[in-house]
Amino acid sequence: MINDRYPVMQHIADNTHVDKAKYQALYQASVDDPDAFWGEQGKRIDWMTPYSKVKNVSFDPHNLHIRWYEDGTLNASANCLDRHLAERGDTVALIWESDDGDTVSQVTYRELHAKVCRFANVLKAQGIQKGDVVTIYMPMVVEAVVSMLACARIGAIHSVVFAGFSPDSIAGRIIDGKSKLVIVADEGLRGGRAIPLKGNVDEALANSDVTTVEKVIVFKRTGGDIDWVEGRDLWWHDLEAEAGSDCPAAEMNAEDPLFILYTSGSTGKPKGVLHTTGGYMVYASLTHEVVFDYKPGEVYWCTADIGWITGHSYLVYGPLANGATCLLHEGVPNWPGPSRLAEIVDRHQVAILYTAPTLIRALMAQGEEHFAKLDGKSLRILGTVGEPINPEAWRWYHQVIGKGRCPVVDTWWQTETGGIMIAPLPGAVDAKPGSATLPFFGVQPQLVDATGAPVAGEGNLVITDSWPGQMRTVYGDHERFIQTYFSTFPGNYFTGDGARQDEDGYFWITGRVDDVINVSGHRMGTAEIESALVAHHDVAEAAVVGYPHDIKGQGIYAYVTLNAGVEATEELRLALRQWVRKEIGALASPDLIQWAPSLPKTRSGKIMRRFLRKIAANECEALGDTTTLADPSVIDTLIQTRLNK
Ligand code: WTA
Repeated sequence: MINDRYPVMQHIADNTHVDKAKYQALYQASVDDPDAFWGEQGKRIDWMTPYSKVKNVSFDPHNLHIRWYEDGTLNASANCLDRHLAERGDTVALIWESDDGDTVSQVTYRELHAKVCRFANVLKAQGIQKGDVVTIYMPMVVEAVVSMLACARIGAIHSVVFAGFSPDSIAGRIIDGKSKLVIVADEGLRGGRAIPLKGNVDEALANSDVTTVEKVIVFKRTGGDIDWVEGRDLWWHDLEAEAGSDCPAAEMNAEDPLFILYTSGSTGKPKGVLHTTGGYMVYASLTHEVVFDYKPGEVYWCTADIGWITGHSYLVYGPLANGATCLLHEGVPNWPGPSRLAEIVDRHQVAILYTAPTLIRALMAQGEEHFAKLDGKSLRILGTVGEPINPEAWRWYHQVIGKGRCPVVDTWWQTETGGIMIAPLPGAVDAKPGSATLPFFGVQPQLVDATGAPVAGEGNLVITDSWPGQMRTVYGDHERFIQTYFSTFPGNYFTGDGARQDEDGYFWITGRVDDVINVSGHRMGTAEIESALVAHHDVAEAAVVGYPHDIKGQGIYAYVTLNAGVEATEELRLALRQWVRKEIGALASPDLIQWAPSLPKTRSGKIMRRFLRKIAANECEALGDTTTLADPSVIDTLIQTRLNK
C-alpha cells in the first residue's frame, strides 16, 4: 500500500500552469542556473527599481549571508493591491464569513486598497515609521489583513501574534521586537466563544518589562465590555474616520524586513523569524500559483489562522499578489458541526481548499454521512500542510471531500522557509498518499547522516542551497540563526526534520528529529512547556515529549516531579494544565501529566528523552540500553504508572 500511486489526472493536466515536461525542465533549469531562473521569475512582481543582481548567498557559517534581488526596490502592499486596480479593481479580494455564519461580506481589491491606505495613514499619524515593529493580535477579520498590509505599505515590520497565545506570550514577543504599537480587537469569536483579546493585551502590557508600547489601536468586533486606558487606547473607527485615503507605498529595498513571526525551536524562547520583502514576495506568489494551480476567478480557501506562517504566505501575500479571491473564515471549520466545512465550500463555490491533517482527521472521526450533502463540484484542488498526513486521512480527503476528482497536494515547508518547499504540482507529479513527493523549483533537498554525509534511504533533511523565500535572520540574534540552522551540517540549511526518500526520489517526511513537537499542526518547543511547568511553585522538575495522538497528530505528554511534601492530586493535575494554558496558551496545555518520582538521567545529569518518548508512546518493549542511566530502576516505575496504555 505504501507505494499506492495516484497519477496526475487528465482534466488537471489538460489545463495547468506546469505539466510533467515543464516541471522537469524548469526544475533542472532552476538548479543548473539559479540566477537565470530566479532572474526571470522575479519579473512576476512589480519593482519600483528593477534588480540587476539576483542571488548573493553563502551558507558557510563563517561567512553566512543570504541576499536576493538586493539592489531592487518594491512594496509588498502595492504588489498585493495597487497592481490589480487597473484590470481587476472590482474583483473580490476577500470573502469574509463570520463565526456564526450569519454574516458574509465581500471586499474588492479597490475597497481593500482604500482601507489599507487609510489605515496606513492612521499608523503614520501615530508616529509609526519605516522599520518600527507593530504587534498585531487580531481575530480572523478583514481588519487583520488590512493591518498587515498597512504596515507593509509604510515599511513598518509586522509581528503577528496568534490570538490563542497568552498575555505572557504576547509580552515576550513585544519585548523582543521592541514594539511601539499594538493592534487588537475588543474580542475575538471562535466556535461561539468570545475571546478577550483586548483583556489579554492589557494584561501583557501590565508586565513591567514591557516598556516600549505607546499606543493600542482597538478594532470593535463584538462591542463586549473592555477596560480602557485613556491616552494609550484608541478606537480603530475613530482614527480611520479622520485619516486620508491617499497613501503612496513606501519604496523598500528587496532585503528590507517585511515581518517577524515567532516560532518554537528545540531550546529557549520562541525565535523571531525575519522575512524580507523581495525574495519572499516572488516565492510566495510563484508557489501559490503553481502548487495550487491557481486560475484567475477561482475562490481559494486557506483555513490557517493569520497568526501562523501559512496565514501570512497563503492567506495574504501569495494569493493577494496573484489577484486571487480568498475566503477568510472567522471561526472553526468544524463548528457548530462537522458539515460546516462542506457548507462553506458549496456556499462560496470554493475551488481550492488548503487545510491541515488534524482537521481532516477530526472530520473523518465524525463519519462520512456529514458530507453526504456536499455538492463539492466547485472543488478542483485540495492541499494539506503542517504535519505528516497519514495515508488513511489522505485517501479520505481525496474521496469524501474531493469526490475522487481533486488532486491532493501535500505541502511540506516551515515558518523559516517562507513558502512551500516539497509538494506535488497537481498537473505534473503523481501523488502517493503520505508523501510530499518532489521539490519545488530551486529547492535542493538532501538526506544526511549524523556526521553530515549524504545518505540514501533515510536521514536528516537539509537543503543544500538557498531559495528566495528563506528567512534571513533571527530578529535581534543573528548568532542564534547561524547556530540553529547552519552549524549542525555546515554548508547546509538544517530543517530539523527527518525524511525518507523512495526509489522514485519522493520525500516522505518522518517528523522532527529535535525537541519540537507538532500538536494539531501547531508547532511547539518542549523546552518552553517544561519551563512553564517548573515555574509553578509545586513543581521540581518536568520533561515534556510528544506522543502519537489520533486527531492531533501529536499530543503533549508531561512527566512532572513535584517538590518534596507536595501531594500528587487530581486537582493539582488540573491546576498545572490551567497554569500552562495561562503561561503560554491553550494550545500548549499537556494532554497527559504523569507524576514522576524522578526522571531517567545519565550520570552527568542529562535527561534521557528517548526513553520518555518511548514510554509515552506505549512502546515499552524495545527501550534499548538503559545501563547508561544513573538509576535504571526509574524506568520501571515510569513504565508501571504510564498513562497512555
Ligand atoms: C511539519 C508550517 C510533514 C514539519 C508551514 C516542519 C510537515 C514543521 C508538513 C514546520 C508536511 C509541515 N508533512 N510535516 N506536509 N508541513 N510539517 O513552522 O515538521 O509551523 O518542520 O510551518 O511542520 O511547522 P511550521
